[in-house]
Amino acid sequence: MTDNREKALAYAQENKEKFLDELKEVLRIPSVSTDSAHKDDMLRTAEWMVEKLKELGMENIEIFPTAKHPVVYADWLHAEGAPTVLVYGHYDVQPADPLDLWETPPFEPSLRGDSLHARGASDMKGQVVATMKAIEAIVENGGLPANIKFMIEGEEEIGSPSLVEFMETHKELLAADFCLNADAGMLGKELPSITYALRGLAYFEIHVNGPSHDLHSGLFGGAVRNPANTLMTLIAGMKDADGHIQLPGFYDKIRPIDDDERAELARLPMKEEFFLKQTGSPALWGEKGYTPVEHVGARPTLDVNGMLSGFTGEGAKTVLPAKAMAKISMRLVPDQTPDEVYLQLKQYMEENTPEGVSWEIKIEHGGNPSISEMGGVGVRAMAKAFKDVWGVDPLFKREGGSIPVVGNMQDILGIESVLTGFGLPDDRIHSPNEKQDLPTWYRGIDALIHFFYNLG
Ligand code: BES
Ligand code: ZN
Repeated sequence: MTDNREKALAYAQENKEKFLDELKEVLRIPSVSTDSAHKDDMLRTAEWMVEKLKELGMENIEIFPTAKHPVVYADWLHAEGAPTVLVYGHYDVQPADPLDLWETPPFEPSLRGDSLHARGASDMKGQVVATMKAIEAIVENGGLPANIKFMIEGEEEIGSPSLVEFMETHKELLAADFCLNADAGMLGKELPSITYALRGLAYFEIHVNGPSHDLHSGLFGGAVRNPANTLMTLIAGMKDADGHIQLPGFYDKIRPIDDDERAELARLPMKEEFFLKQTGSPALWGEKGYTPVEHVGARPTLDVNGMLSGFTGEGAKTVLPAKAMAKISMRLVPDQTPDEVYLQLKQYMEENTPEGVSWEIKIEHGGNPSISEMGGVGVRAMAKAFKDVWGVDPLFKREGGSIPVVGNMQDILGIESVLTGFGLPDDRIHSPNEKQDLPTWYRGIDALIHFFYNLG
């Protein structure tokens, strides 16, 4: 087995160019899940995954249609007595806009220095391909030491609306000892990490309507409520000056972080300078009484993601808009749920909206937060794999981002996830000029090779 491990690592070394070419291939398909104009691209990407899984010798490969975008499944179950790993991935990406801010087009992968730039390079086509290529290296050099199931979805970036039902109706098919989920990144080039907590998400649109049509702001301004002003006042009231969220009952279900965990978090190399550098913000600001690493990992928040009202073109137009809209989302921590947060938001709107306007809340999507067990075979195999490649023990971190499937797998399949990945904090995921650092990507492939052998 040791010999095979060495051979697999050598194979990965020899095939670096080929692996990169394959990653570029899939990055060229604009699989934007939120945009119905890309429906065909979604299917093309799923089919690309199928081809790659075939090349790995996977069996029972199937594209399962869902209400939106298909789920790709495959397995290889011939390692008797060895654990079964459910490899999770998502082949969808976030929209690429604003397009004019990209230095090179988002779906034409481009190499600059050590970085491969493209939408999805880091989040998470790069991670899916890394996992497949690690498995290829193993398959080509003696065979897999563990059983593998793949579940690759196309709806992660829109909150995985079809996946709960898919998992509920395919429990047996998906049964495994644990899940490998490489969608959670690492803290720095020399700081491999394993994530043990993710925030959840509750995403809404709030609409405020006033007059029946846009008004001349001179003829009528001052005599009616302005929906834009009203919406902004409502939003402003959702957080106090200390950053505490004012929705009724918002903090009731939150598990406090104990002193031991706070001390552990304080040891992570994520001090104020880290956040200033990553964000390019002139200063940090967050809920009073907590540090930035706690703000993003262990505390909930509420943010405006976008607003629409009135005249936003060049110059000035003296208009009193008839309506205003804001997209608002809350990042949640255990044990908050999106459903409860919706009721809290509704109650806040009921109690605080003045007369003279009407309002409506549309639910976009949501996902539960999660905390993962850290003591399982999967985490041990991954921690050792990092030590094998990076020569250091991984850091254990909480993440501010959301991967709703992690909590869903705990609830529906009863399995824990090993949350890791080879994306870096400065990869600009969801933003223009997303990139994947290639030296880290290749080390990631090596680490995954070790991971699978460590299970055997
Ligand atoms: N991979 C990210 C989440 C992530 C990034 C976790 C970095 C840990 C470290 C994932 O693809 C993502 O962006 N999820 C969305 C989920 C949402 C749309 C339900 C998110 O967090 O906004
Ligand atoms: Zn993402």
